[in-house]
Amino acid sequence: MISQKMADAINVQIKEEFYSAYLYLAMAYKSEELGLKVFAEWFQHQEAEERMHATKMAQYLLDQGAEVTLLQLDQPKYDKSSISAMIDETVKHEKFITNCISDLVNLARDEKDNATFNFLQWYVEEQVEEVASVSELQDLVKLAGPDQLLILEERLRQLVAARNSAE
Ligand SMILES: [Fe+2]
Ligand SMILES: [Fe+2]
Repeated sequence: MISQKMADAINVQIKEEFYSAYLYLAMAYKSEELGLKVFAEWFQHQEAEERMHATKMAQYLLDQGAEVTLLQLDQPKYDKSSISAMIDETVKHEKFITNCISDLVNLARDEKDNATFNFLQWYVEEQVEEVASVSELQDLVKLAGPDQLLILEERLRQLVAARNSAE
């Protein structure tokens, strides 16, 4: 059994993960609107991952006999002026989530909650991976510039395909 304080904090993080999904879904639709179908696919993939992050936490609460409270989601807010702006927003958002996870880990430590501390290590690793991969994409978008996004989509198509076959 975990403390109410810990359960409340995880419920807030479940909301943040669903918000991430909602944000990336919005970006997927915006990419589609801009004619960038592979970016749209990439954001769809991110969206599915974020939903998995949320539901994995919800299952953990249930396993611990705690209540899952689905909190209200905000409307996605982001700079939608270009794909480059959206990727910058994605990097910023993933860094924010990394900080949230870090706060949760610190709380688990304060609460002497070893099970939750252990459970959260998966997210610590996941965030290292996510920040690295979105930062890599951010570099590619900057290198390509606005005129070569379609060429960049070819590279991104390979990355998406490689990731899909790895799963
Ligand atoms: Fe996440
Ligand atoms: Fe993420």
